Amino acid sequence: MNRKTKTAYVCTECGQDYGKWRGKCDNCGLWDTVHEIRIPASPGETSRYGASAAAAKKAPAGARKLAECAMDQAPRMTSGIGEVDRVLGGGLVRGACILLGGDPGIGKSTLLLQLAARIGKTRRVLYLSGEESPEQVAMRAQRLQVGDAAMELLTETSVESILATLGEATPDLVIIDSIQTVYSEALQSAPGSVAQIRESAAMLLRFAKETGAVMIFIGHVTKDGSIAGPRLLEHMVDTVLYFEGDGSYQFRVLRTVKNRFGPSGELALLTMSDDGLHEIANASEFFLMNRHQPQAGTAVAPILEGTRIMMVELQALVNKSHFGMPQRVASGVNQRKLALLLAVLERHGGVVLGDFDVFFNIAGGLTVTEPAIDLGIAAALLSSFRNKPVRREIAFIGELGLGGEIRPVNAMSARFKELARMGFAECIVPRPSRNAEWMNDSYGITLTTCAKVGGVQELLF
Ligand code: TYD
Ligand code: MG
Repeated sequence: MNRKTKTAYVCTECGQDYGKWRGKCDNCGLWDTVHEIRIPASPGETSRYGASAAAAKKAPAGARKLAECAMDQAPRMTSGIGEVDRVLGGGLVRGACILLGGDPGIGKSTLLLQLAARIGKTRRVLYLSGEESPEQVAMRAQRLQVGDAAMELLTETSVESILATLGEATPDLVIIDSIQTVYSEALQSAPGSVAQIRESAAMLLRFAKETGAVMIFIGHVTKDGSIAGPRLLEHMVDTVLYFEGDGSYQFRVLRTVKNRFGPSGELALLTMSDDGLHEIANASEFFLMNRHQPQAGTAVAPILEGTRIMMVELQALVNKSHFGMPQRVASGVNQRKLALLLAVLERHGGVVLGDFDVFFNIAGGLTVTEPAIDLGIAAALLSSFRNKPVRREIAFIGELGLGGEIRPVNAMSARFKELARMGFAECIVPRPSRNAEWMNDSYGITLTTCAKVGGVQELLF
């Protein structure tokens, strides 16, 4: 039998392959990410590098009419965790492959163990751990109060053995913790290398598509990218979720980066506590939790994350600077965004902050990229500068242009509804364009229009 091996050079970041080694990947532009991998060209194997003649001669699989391929039964399986269903676009789809990425220690194993326990009540679930012993997993399950869950555990890392077990068990859900520990005996390279991850994932993926089992891979993301990150898997799987959060805060965000079965950009909010992850039922309440007395330097703005509106508290501190170089420190928004807003305020708002230190923060540790909070940031800055709290029960919506104009943003009506629900009485809004519909409705709150940032100051206090 011909077991010649072939060599390929693959970028660990983007998965691009080359015939020769090179220092810089032409595809993603990163340096020193192209590494050599060996692929055995065994007959019958349809590897991308060594498509065998046997495979090429296989009988064609007849094409079918699109309408005939439609599914009649509801293909989604609920995960038992509302927030997770939400990011998945309504539940797990049969045969779906999902990649869950995130920094080490963020809570990936915790989340999936909780998920497995919930689904395990009605379905057959197999939790495969290549990183922890069954005792360790059981200990965590005890802590999560799911110690008696009906799921099965497997600590195996060879993909051939895994597939043999899966074939016999016929599970509805398989969790692979983590894909970096799985390896194929057919390849010589070390577990965790690009070739191993790619090959093992492809084999597991095929199993999911053939049997209809849902496959969830955990993938570690490393900051320096020295081991093959799950980046190249992103192209192979149906759904990519990222689990994010700041170690110093309790709350975690599960975000859809890619989803073949629903909208991407959707977001789930969870908190980590002593007994695992819990859903945040009311996001606005959670982020405004510590807002009690009127305080100088804070303002509230509704933000749109995925399809959900939530309220955030914007905090600014403007202090006379005692050093030559005034400081500009932003967390939760881009540093440059803060600089830009300060420049607009100086030019069009009539406040000169050149010899003031400016600190900005979004309460709760959330990061917001939406321009809809521009006006809210300006209000918080002005409030701190004047050392007067803004009026209670007032919120801000609007993007600031470089000319000092306040611009409308998307989903205005949805934002007003959330404001009304949270008991806000008034909102400062941009002047509506001629055919804007959001001014026509009454939402139970007063809408005060303001066209220019220069006019905001007199509406604040
Ligand atoms: P883990 O799920 O092991 O993270 P990952 O799989 O992403 O590496 O969780 C890691 C952290 O979560 C760990 O530092 C402890 C903490 N944790 C809790 O705070 N409460 C809990 O109930 C559990 C199980 C973990
Ligand atoms: Mg883990």
